[in-house]
Amino acid sequence: MTAAFPIIAPSILSANFACLGREVEDVVQGGADWIHFDVMDNHYVPNLTVGPLVCEALRPVTNVPIDVHLMVEPVDSLVPMFAKAGADIITFHCEASRHIDRTLSLILDLGMKAGLVFNPATPLDYLDYVLDKIDLILLMSVNPGFGGQSFIGSTLEKIAKARAKLDAYEAQSGRRILIEVDGGIKPSNIAEVARAGADAFVAGSAVFGKKDAELYGQVIREMKTKAAEARCG
Ligand code: DX5
Ligand code: ZN
Repeated sequence: MTAAFPIIAPSILSANFACLGREVEDVVQGGADWIHFDVMDNHYVPNLTVGPLVCEALRPVTNVPIDVHLMVEPVDSLVPMFAKAGADIITFHCEASRHIDRTLSLILDLGMKAGLVFNPATPLDYLDYVLDKIDLILLMSVNPGFGGQSFIGSTLEKIAKARAKLDAYEAQSGRRILIEVDGGIKPSNIAEVARAGADAFVAGSAVFGKKDAELYGQVIREMKTKAAEARCG
């Protein structure tokens, strides 16, 4: 999957749901590259958020990719619904699908980009036999379910391990698989996440926690600059 570095993906989980369309417009105006769309089912994770109807409502609001992070179990029945609702990227948790290869094929056959999500304690081994069906991986740097949690430090080593695995695959296949990191990312720690090898950065509270929508652009620009400097230096 090719994309300019860095990709900033504000998570609407921390947005003001009373004016969600406006919030999406504001972060896109501020430089957001993707809209991160957190779907929780109160079964796989202990929280409940939004589904395909809300994705469909947001689709006409923006042209940037809608990055659907499914924290649901089971997974497969929701995939065609999100395809119809205009999702561009679907990621799902390794433990939430009984048949990972089948779920990845389902996402790809519907014309979307596909990704696997790894919780902080989930091993990267799940990647070994499905690399050819993956466009990106999403490494959780918090336990999924809530915004505003602190970044779990051991994620840095995991990002570096994943980068090495994916770089080796790229050298042999010519396909680049992106690494997205999700949870507790903010201007003060994005540099080390970028240095470890991440391409895409989810930020919920760091962006939407700002009081004024005019500050969204400022924090997004700050994060982009810090990530870019870390990658070069
Ligand atoms: C957590 C979600 C994250 C979360 C990120 O389950 O997947 O996307 O909203 O929020 P912050 O950036 O506040 O940790
Ligand atoms: Zn997420």
